[in-house]
Amino acid sequence: MPNAPATILVFDSGLGGLTVFREIAVALPGAHFVYVADDAGFPYGNQSEAALIARVAEVIGTAISTHQPDLVVVACNTASTMALTELRARYSVPFVGTVPAIKPACAQSKTKRIAVLGTQATVTREYTRALIREFAGGCDVGLVGSSHLASFAEAELAGTPVADAAIKAEIASCFVDTDARRTDTVVLACTHYPLLTDRFRAVAPWPVDWLDPAAAIARRVADLIGPRPRAAAPASAHIEFTSGRKPSPALAKALSGYGF
Ligand code: DGL
Repeated sequence: MPNAPATILVFDSGLGGLTVFREIAVALPGAHFVYVADDAGFPYGNQSEAALIARVAEVIGTAISTHQPDLVVVACNTASTMALTELRARYSVPFVGTVPAIKPACAQSKTKRIAVLGTQATVTREYTRALIREFAGGCDVGLVGSSHLASFAEAELAGTPVADAAIKAEIASCFVDTDARRTDTVVLACTHYPLLTDRFRAVAPWPVDWLDPAAAIARRVADLIGPRPRAAAPASAHIEFTSGRKPSPALAKALSGYGF
C-alpha cells in the first residue's frame, strides 16, 4: 500500500467535471485533487475531432508533467469518447473516462425507451453508436444533441440563471411517447448537465429518471487507487483555468462550495 495520499487530476473543458469531482472527493477524502478546466478551449461539443484530440492530449500532457498525478479522470464525455485511446497510448498514468451510461439506462428502463442527452459531438460519435449496438438490448435509444446546455450550466454556476423556456427547448426531444411507451430514463451524457437536473425536472413534460454516472465513476477511481492511509492534513483541492482567468466573485463563491 503506497504511503503518500493519491494525487488525482480531474479534467474537463469547463466546470461540468465538478459533478464528477464532488463524488470522487467523497469516495477518497484523503486525496489531493487538481482540477484543470480547459476554458480557453470551451465548448468542446462543437469542435472538429482532429483538433480536439490534439488539444486534449496537449493540455492533459502539460498537466501530467506539472502535477505528476497517480490517476487522471477525464470528466468530460466529449473528450473521453474521442481522445481516451490517444491519451492511453501517449501517457502511462491510468485514465478513467466518462462515457454515456447507455448500458445501465437500458437495463433499468421499464418502458424500454430512453434518451441520451449530450453534446452534438458526443451523440454523433461512433463510440456512442457502438455502445448502443452493444448494450441497448432491444431498448429504443434516442440521441439528443444540445448546443447550448453546457454554456447554460456554466452561466448558472456563475450566478446568471437561464430562462425555463430555453432549457425546455434543449431537452424537448428527449421526451417521446409512441406505441404506448414513453421515455422513462434520460442519460446525462455531458458532465455539465447534472448541474441543471433540478431545472430539467421543473420543465420536463413528465417525470423521468435523469441518470448521472458520477457515483459509478467515483467507485471506479476509488477501486483503482486502492486503500491509502488517511492523509495527515485534510484533502487539498486546487483549480486551474487554461485561460488564466480569475473567477468572478459569484463563481469563486460557487467553487468554494466544492472545496476550492
Ligand atoms: N462537459 C463536457 C462533456 O461532458 C462538454 C462540454 C463542452 O461542450 O465543452 O461532454
